[in-house]
Amino acid sequence: MKLLSRPELFDFEGVSMVHYFTDNWEKVKNFQARPDDILIATYPKAGTTWVSYILDLLYFAIYMRVPFLESCFQVIQSGTELADNLPTSPRLIKTHLPVQLVPKSFWEQNSRIVYVARNAKDNAVSYFHFDRMNMGEPEPGDWNTFLQKFMEGKNVFGPWFDHVSGWWEKKQTYSNLLYLFYEDLVEDTGREVERLCSFLGLSTSVEEREKITKGVQFDAMKQNKMTNYSTLPVMDFKISPFMRKGKVGDWKGHFTVAQNEQFDEVYKQKMKNTTVKFRTEI
Ligand code: A3P
Repeated sequence: MKLLSRPELFDFEGVSMVHYFTDNWEKVKNFQARPDDILIATYPKAGTTWVSYILDLLYFAIYMRVPFLESCFQVIQSGTELADNLPTSPRLIKTHLPVQLVPKSFWEQNSRIVYVARNAKDNAVSYFHFDRMNMGEPEPGDWNTFLQKFMEGKNVFGPWFDHVSGWWEKKQTYSNLLYLFYEDLVEDTGREVERLCSFLGLSTSVEEREKITKGVQFDAMKQNKMTNYSTLPVMDFKISPFMRKGKVGDWKGHFTVAQNEQFDEVYKQKMKNTTVKFRTEI
């Protein structure tokens, strides 16, 4: 059963969006953050679920979830409603909003923020497969069509380039922000879990950290109903699984030589004013 129809992309305060993330905007904008909130911010497909789950395990039992702040699908409670009613402290909240659209109360409350970024090529491939299987996203077309749109920033939540560099700039002035890379998480999950613990001031034991590190490996999360999204009605798993590959460098099987050259050119241009650096292989 298909409960959602694919939405149209439109311009929202200068960012490409779909109505599922703007229908509840007054409430999102006026969302009341708390000083102990932890906001998990990412461009879609950069490892949101992974880091949400790590934080979830660090703080809570698995049954307590992480609301998606701006979401407003009629089939489930809106993100603001879920967050407002969360009984936990701290609250874990996720967002894909570019930095300039984040509700101002997060800055006022000096909430802690964990941003996760992933290299543009793998991020684009993952986003393409996600848009194919998720009826809450606009129709992606074929790979080449999608890639051209990705380079123009015609994706939900706007250009990847502005997203990762906007949050990178924010890090220079807002000290309660930890900027993680998906590639580092793949390379050494344990080390990154340790970084998270020290950022959050958690004195988690070595045994506990090792247990969490094991529990959040790709294969474990792929089998886990809580993290593989198999219970969500908007995704068609016959097209592609949510926990798809979980690799660095998967883009090499998608980009043609010509697409890669074109992408590198666009990348150089769009990233010329930022110092953030990514690895496309490890
Ligand atoms: P792929 O499509 O490349 O497999 P998000 O949660 O932001 O939507 O990101 C989803 C991407 O993160 C998917 O990438 C998914 O497989 C990957 N991912 C999720 N958990 C992971 C894990 N434990 N290890 C490696 N990759 C993971």
